[in-house]
Amino acid sequence: MNALPTHCIFDAYGTLFDVSAAARRLAAQDAALQPVWQPLAEDWRRKQLEYSWLRAIMGDHADFARVTAEALDWALERHGLPPALHPPLMALYDRLDCFAEVPAMLAALAAQGVACAILSNGSPAMLSAAVASAGLADRFAAVLSVEEVGVFKPDPRVYALACDRLGIAPGAAAFVSSNGWDIAGAARFGFRTVWVNRSALPVDRLPHRPAHVLPDLSPLPDLLRPE
Ligand code: LAC
Repeated sequence: MNALPTHCIFDAYGTLFDVSAAARRLAAQDAALQPVWQPLAEDWRRKQLEYSWLRAIMGDHADFARVTAEALDWALERHGLPPALHPPLMALYDRLDCFAEVPAMLAALAAQGVACAILSNGSPAMLSAAVASAGLADRFAAVLSVEEVGVFKPDPRVYALACDRLGIAPGAAAFVSSNGWDIAGAARFGFRTVWVNRSALPVDRLPHRPAHVLPDLSPLPDLLRPE
C-alpha cells in the first residue's frame, strides 16, 4: 500500500466477530437445534442484513438489536424452532467469539502505530458488550455505531461519521470488512478498502471493488507495514 494509512476502521459482525457462534454454541446444549443450527445462522444473518437495507431504503430506522431480534424470529419460524430459543440466542449475540487471529492482529497494528476503530451497524450496547466479552476494549480508539446517524450501512453518512469522529480524511484510513456490500460503500466514500474473504466467495458485482483481498485478518499488519 502506498502512503500507508494511519487508521484502520473495522466492520464488526462477520469481520471481527463470528456471527454463527451464537447458534453453534447453543446447539451444543440443545438437541432440537443441533441438526439445523447452520442454516438457522445463515438465515438469521441474511434476514438481519436484508432488514437493515430495507429499513434504510424505506426510511424506517430501528436499531440493530431490534433488526437482529426480528430476523431471528423469522429464522426460528422458518426452521420450525420454538420461540423459547430467542432469548438465549440473543443473549449469546452479545458474547460472540472473535475470530482466532483477531487479538494478535490488533496487537500487531497497535505496535505499528496504526489507530484502530470499529464502525458498525450494531447498537452501542451490542458493540460494547461484544468488544468487552472478547477482551478487546483497550484495542480501539473509537467504537462507532450507526445509531449516531440513524441509518444503516452502506449509506455514505455512516462512513462520513467515522471521518468526523476520528478527524481524518477518507484516504487516511483502511476500511476492513468481510461484507462485499460494505466494501463497495466504503470504497465509494473514499476509504482504502480491504475485503476479508473468509469463504472464498466471488467478488460482488457492485461498483467500487476492493483494493485488497485477504483470506482472513492475519496478513493485515503486513499489508499496512512500512516496507
Ligand atoms: C456490521 C455488520 C454489517 O458490523 O456486519 O456493521
